[in-house]
Parts: sequence; structure tokens; C-alpha cells
Amino acid sequence: DEAERTERIEAALDELGDDVVILGHNYQRREIVEHADFVGDSYQLSKEAANADADYVIFGGVTFMAESADIITDDSQSVILPSMEASCPMAGMAEALQVDAAWAEITGAAPDEEIIPITYMNSYADLKAFCAEQGGLVCTSSNAHKAFEYAFEKGDKVLFLPDKHLGENTAYRLGMEDEIAEWDPWDPEGKDAAEVVQNDIVLWDGYCQVHERFSESHIEDLRERRPDANVVVHPECRREVVEAADVVGSTATICEVVEEADPGDAWAIGTEIHLAKHLDRWHPDVEVLPLCGDACMDCNAMRQIDPNYLTWVLEELVAGRERNVIEVAPEEKELAQVALDRMLEI
Ligand code: 13P
Ligand code: SF4
Repeated sequence: DEAERTERIEAALDELGDDVVILGHNYQRREIVEHADFVGDSYQLSKEAANADADYVIFGGVTFMAESADIITDDSQSVILPSMEASCPMAGMAEALQVDAAWAEITGAAPDEEIIPITYMNSYADLKAFCAEQGGLVCTSSNAHKAFEYAFEKGDKVLFLPDKHLGENTAYRLGMEDEIAEWDPWDPEGKDAAEVVQNDIVLWDGYCQVHERFSESHIEDLRERRPDANVVVHPECRREVVEAADVVGSTATICEVVEEADPGDAWAIGTEIHLAKHLDRWHPDVEVLPLCGDACMDCNAMRQIDPNYLTWVLEELVAGRERNVIEVAPEEKELAQVALDRMLEI
């Protein structure tokens, strides 16, 4: 049961002491978040990983986050992901090989222009390495606008991948909404690269299947039921959802908005359901409403990190065995680090 498991986790952590740090993404289950030394959004977790002194960084999150932690930490440190099944489907929507082929077409159609690729953190290390090689960088939902500004200072056009919604929402934020074209790598008709590069921002056709489920009608229903409530949503939501909301921001921004709310205020949360549940527990004086009502926006990838697996990896470490170590191939690591460092510098 949970009490017994908690005891075992605490006993293992006592034994391991400073050798271990646990990082937990805001979407992790309560039973993981409660044991984390640090809970935050992807950007905050990458900074925590970069500053970690521990020999073992246990990552409560998904594969691409653990990969980024491995890239950022020293070679002597190991990053452990309690479940190897925790893969974000969006990250899988832009495979490096596929991007390579599209890149040849897109850049071939604009030989006199410099195109800068930006990949969202939600991507695998080989794609981050590819972006670095082409002069680009990584961004998270909290700094996408800065990454675009960096890219437009350096070059003429941006290829943003994999999340078309974050890309579109960022273009609007920068007043560049008339400059958008979409690149659908699965389009059987193919794409006319010459037409696409008429625009300054090319968006890869990827999306988050959790956030794409939010619709404008969720906000309309909420406003009808609770005209006093405010709405905050994640920028992975569709454009019309972001437009209908009061505030848009990364999971860290969503946390801040509720932290700063006055007692008695009501906030509807348009993101993965676990964060809405945490905020409800963490801030009992604020009324926290899941924007989806009863329909559960649960990220199956994040859910793979079961507290029993956390217990297992910790007890194995006590026994001297490293399980589920995430290791990025050395040839990708160096370049992916360049793309991540460029983000940490902006
Ligand atoms: P944040 O960077 O806002 O934490 O988001 C990560 C993520 O996976 C959202 O779906
Ligand atoms: Fe990926 Fe969406 Fe889950 Fe975030 S919420 S990890 S983008 S599937």
C-alpha cells in the first residue's frame, strides 16, 4: 500500500543521501511529486539538472526530458528514468531522418535565404543535434518567443518543430501571424516547398494529443457556468482556445497565476489534469477548476512513471545496481548540448 511504499522510498533516500536528486515535472502524479526535490516546468527542470551535484538524477518526466538532463549533466552523473515507456507522442512526430529530408526540400527552395530551425524541447536528442548543426536552437513553452527573436536576428526564416500550435501561438505573440505556412510531412500530395518558403515561419505539423483535445466550447461552457472564473491555458492548445483564455503560459506560469491569485478567486486550468489536481491541493484558498470538467486530460506518457517503479530504481541503487539509465549517444550529445546551451543563454 501507499504507506508501505512511502516508507521504502524514504528508507532508500536516507541510504542514498546526497547521491540522489529527484526532479519531477508538474504533470507527474502526486505520489511522485511528493518525493521530488524539485517540481517544475521543462525549462526549470533543465536548469535544475544543469545545477545538480548528485551522482544520480532520477527524472520524473518523459524520455526527451531525461535525455536533455543527460546532455546537460556531467559525464560522471547518471540520469535515471523510472519507466522506459514514458515517451511523449509529440516528440515522436518529428523524426530526425524525416526532418532531414524536409530540410533539403525547404532550404533547396530558398537558396538565398538563411532558415533557422528551432525545435521545441519536446523532441529527441538527434533532432536537437540537427538543429544545432544548422545554426538553430531548442526552446520550451516559456521561452519560444525569445528563441524566435534570436532566430530572426540571425537569419531570415524559421522552421519550427514539432508543435504547430506552440509555433502558431508564438507567431501571434510576435505579431507575425500573417507569415505562417504549415509543413505536413505526411501529406500524400506532397508539399510545394517554393510556396511554403514565401512565408517567414514554417510550422511542422505536430501536436500534443492531450492539449489538442481542449476546445473553445470548453471555455464557452465554463464562462456560462462560472462567469466569475478566469481561464489559464498552455500554449500547446489550439489557437482558438488560447484566444478565448485570459492567460496563456507554460506549466510554471500556470502555477504562478494560481499562487498569485487572491483568496476566493476561481481559476480554470487548461492543461494536463495532474497539474490542476496539484494546484487544487497546494492552494486550498483558491478555487481550482479543471477546464475539461469531467473529461480527463491525462498524459499517458507522464503516467508511465509509476511510484512502484520509483521505489524499484531507488532500491536497486541502494543495492549497487543502476537501472533505466538514459544515455544519449556521444556523437549527438555534443551538438544537442550546443542547441540547449543556446536556449539557456537567451
Ligand atoms: P512545460 O514546458 O510548460 O512544462 O510543458 C511541457 C509539456 O510537455 C507540456 O505538454
Ligand atoms: Fe507530450 Fe503532451 Fe504529454 Fe506534454 S502533455 S508530455 S506534449 S503528450
